[in-house]
Amino acid sequence: MEKSCAVILAAGEGKRMKSDLPKVMLNVLFKPMLQWVIDSVKASGTDDICVVVGFKEEIIRDYLGESCEAVTQAERKGTGHAVMMAKDYLEKRRGGHVLVLCGDAPFMDEATIKAAFKKHIAEGNSATIISAELDDPTGYGRIVRDGKIGPVVEIVEHKDATPEQLKITEINSGAYWFKIDDLLPVLDFDHIKNNNAQGEYYLPTVITLFLEQNLKVNAYISENRQTVMGANNCLQLNNLSGIARKNILNKLLENGVEMPSSAGVIIGPDVTMGHNVTILPGTIIRGKTHISDGCTIGPNSLVDTCTVGKNTIINASQCYYSTIGENTDIGPFSHIRPDCSIDDKVHVGDFVELKNTSVGSGTKISHLCYIGDSELGTDVNVGCGFVTVNYDGVAKHRCVIGNGAFLGCNTSLIAPITVGDNAYVAAGATITEDVPAGALAIGRVRQANKENWNKKQ
Ligand code: UD1
Ligand code: MG
Repeated sequence: MEKSCAVILAAGEGKRMKSDLPKVMLNVLFKPMLQWVIDSVKASGTDDICVVVGFKEEIIRDYLGESCEAVTQAERKGTGHAVMMAKDYLEKRRGGHVLVLCGDAPFMDEATIKAAFKKHIAEGNSATIISAELDDPTGYGRIVRDGKIGPVVEIVEHKDATPEQLKITEINSGAYWFKIDDLLPVLDFDHIKNNNAQGEYYLPTVITLFLEQNLKVNAYISENRQTVMGANNCLQLNNLSGIARKNILNKLLENGVEMPSSAGVIIGPDVTMGHNVTILPGTIIRGKTHISDGCTIGPNSLVDTCTVGKNTIINASQCYYSTIGENTDIGPFSHIRPDCSIDDKVHVGDFVELKNTSVGSGTKISHLCYIGDSELGTDVNVGCGFVTVNYDGVAKHRCVIGNGAFLGCNTSLIAPITVGDNAYVAAGATITEDVPAGALAIGRVRQANKENWNKKQ
C-alpha cells in the first residue's frame, strides 16, 4: 500500500465574500466548503490531513479541533508559499504521496481523487495534476501541452498567459498528487520564485521544476467538471449551493425517494434515506440525519441532525439533534428541541415543545404542551396544556413520569417531581410533591359556587 496524506490550502481571505468568516468556512448547502473538501479526501481513503490556515486562523482551528493538523501561513504569498508551511508535516511523511488541494473548491470528489491517485501510482509520476476541460476557462491556470494532446509542459496562470495560451481550455483544478520525496527538495525560495504577474510564489512552478529534472509529470483529466468549481462572491456561493442541492435531489429521486414537487425542498449533503420515503414541499433536512423506510417528512418541516425510525411522519414541524422512533407522528406545528429521544408509536401533536426529554413508546402528547428535561414512560397520556416547570430561575430540574400515567389537562409539575406508574394527575393541578404509583393527585382550589351572586351585585 502506498502511503498518502493531504495538504489543504485554506489561508486565503476571500475579500469579495464580504464576510467576517474566512472564505473556506462559508457554507455550501449548510456545510463549510472546507468540510466538503475534508469529507471527500477522507472518503477517498486519506485520513491524514494538514490544513494551511492564515486569515482568521483561530476560527478554522477552533472548527477543526483535533480532527486535522493545521499549520499557519502568516502572510499570503501564494500557493507555493502555502505548501512550504507544511514542510515539517511532509518531512515526517517521506516515502509517501501528498494530495495538495484548495479548501475553496467544495466539489472535488472522492472518485476524482481516487482515479487521479491510481494514475499517479500506475504511471510512477512525481506529480499528477487534476485538470478539467472547461467551456469557459477564464481565470484558471492553463495546462500547456506539447501539441494539443502531448505531454504536459507547464501550467501557466491566466494573468501570465499569452493570447495563444489563453485559448487553452484544459485548466488546472488546483489539486495535485505529488511524490513527497520529489516535492520537498524544491519547496523553497531558491526554487520557487515570484517573478510573475501576481508577484506570488506559485505551486504550479513545481511542475516546471520537476520537468527540468526529468521527473515524470502528467495530468488526470477529471470527467466531472464541477470538481473545479469555486466561488469568489456570495452570488457564486449561492450558485454552488444550488448545484449541490440539485445533485442531491437527483440522487435521492434516482434512489426512489418520492417528491411530488421539489419546491422548497433542500436536503443537506450528509443526509441519508431509506426506501419509500416521501418528502413534501417546503422541507429542509440537514446535518447527519437519517430518515428510515416509509417516512413522510413535510410539508414545511425542518429536520436537523436527527435519526428518524421507519414509517414516521413529521408534518409541518421542526426537529433538532434528536432520535425519533418508528411509527411515530410529529406535528403539525411541533418543536422537538435538542437531546430528545422519542420512542415508537408516539404521538406528538400540535403546539408541543419538547426539550432534552425522553418519551416512551405509545405515549400521546396531543396538544399545547411544554415538556423539558423530563422522562416519560410508556403509554403516558399527556393532556392538553400540560407544562413541566423545570426552571427555578437558577437551575433546571427533571420530571420523571411513570408508565401508563395520566396527566390531566392544564396541569403543571413543579420539578423535580416523580409521578409513579399508572398514577393520575387531576386536570388543572399544580403538582409540587411526588405522586405515588397508582394514586390520584389533585392540586387545585376546591370550587365554590356563590348562589345568586350576580343578582346581589
Ligand atoms: C489557483 C491555481 C490555478 C488554478 C486555480 C484553481 C496557483 C498559482 N494557481 O489559482 O492554476 O487554476 O487555483 O482554482 O496556484 N491559498 C493559501 N495561501 C496563499 C494563496 C492561496 O492558502 O498564499 C489558498 C486559498 O485560500 C485557496 C487556494 O489556496 O483555497 C487557491 O488560491 P487562489 O488564490 O484561489 O488561487 P487561484 O488564483 O484561484
Ligand atoms: Mg481560486
